Amino acid sequence: MATINDNYLKLKAGYLFPEIARRVNAFAAEHPDAPIIRLGIGDVTEPLPEACRSAMIKAVDDMGNRATFQGYGPEQGYAWLREKIAAQDFQARGCDIDATEIFISDGSKCDCGNILDIFGDNNTIAVTDPVYPVYVDTNVMAGHTGEANDRGEYEGLVYLPINAENNFTAAIPSQKIDLIYLCFPNNPTGATATREHLQAWVDYAKANGSIIFFDAAYEAFITDPNLPHSIYEIDGARDCAIEFRSFSKNAGFTGTRCALTVVPKTLTAKAKDGSDIQVWQLWNRRQATKFNGVSYIVQRGAEAVYSEAGKAQIRTLIDFYMENAKIIREQLTAAGIQVYGGTNAPYVWVKTPHILTSWEFFDKLLHLVNVVGTPGAGFGAAGEGYLRISAFNSRENVVEAMRRITEKFKA
Ligand code: MLT
Repeated sequence: MATINDNYLKLKAGYLFPEIARRVNAFAAEHPDAPIIRLGIGDVTEPLPEACRSAMIKAVDDMGNRATFQGYGPEQGYAWLREKIAAQDFQARGCDIDATEIFISDGSKCDCGNILDIFGDNNTIAVTDPVYPVYVDTNVMAGHTGEANDRGEYEGLVYLPINAENNFTAAIPSQKIDLIYLCFPNNPTGATATREHLQAWVDYAKANGSIIFFDAAYEAFITDPNLPHSIYEIDGARDCAIEFRSFSKNAGFTGTRCALTVVPKTLTAKAKDGSDIQVWQLWNRRQATKFNGVSYIVQRGAEAVYSEAGKAQIRTLIDFYMENAKIIREQLTAAGIQVYGGTNAPYVWVKTPHILTSWEFFDKLLHLVNVVGTPGAGFGAAGEGYLRISAFNSRENVVEAMRRITEKFKA
């Protein structure tokens, strides 16, 4: 008799976003005329930049011509894309990252989960609370945890609380952690990390032989020139960090799919026999075996992000979403609702008014004003009492959603 991976049975019923979609769809089925505005999942709404579209159209034509046709591409991604990323995203910021250390993939979410393939089963693992649920669920699936308790916390994971008191940045742990997930700008709270904060993590990781999984999917939304965009801007990070980045949010590739992961060649971890093994070599082996690369057409589209036209168009897109974030912050604040984030990130972390729980506020927003947010409790126990509002939507919808919320929930 075939058996299953029983670890899946430990997972909470549904992944957060499909669960929200299920509730919203049920409401929409009962109220087909309700003018629902979705500010829940962080999915982009604006069209792909023109530079990316034209590059992809040209790439389709390349595929129609024997001389320029492409079959399997390199599993790591095409060198012409990796070289531009290395030069413009990393070397231009003083990061010592080489094109061969960059792996192109179809998504940061996939890479954040897949990376566990190359690490052992006995690592101590820390996540912040609240946290992007993928980090937790993929560890549950991999059998790195026990069961969840009543608060939804899995036995075996170390939860680092982030809250208003610590500016939504976790304190450096006193115990030894092997794998640490950090996300800056933060999903869900919109918080950012200073150089000093990241330096403290890198120093901790180097002292303890730990590896930091640094999720920088939202780095393009940083507006403060003093904030680091990459962990590799921090001294010593090459020896203790893997960075995940994405074209989803800056260039609108959520439906197109393209991302990248940086694994420095100087990063090592221990084998069972105590020897130091290069992590790059394992990830390269993993990708070459389980992945055939992102399509040529999509990689050509991603390459256009680095053209002069592409850069200007992406700036416009980001400014557009950040103006939405500003409207959300200002309107809610004026209505007496406490908000965090939204200045260097496309997410606004809202303290629920009238002492409502996260899901109560979610339900009231959906039923009373037909606006969808993401309940903070869905990101972890410490997210209770908050709701995340995404700035990814049209201006018209954001303005209208804020009008409805502030009218109904004014303090
Ligand atoms: C979110 O809403 O948190 C994002 O959509 C997550 C993701 O990009 O997977």
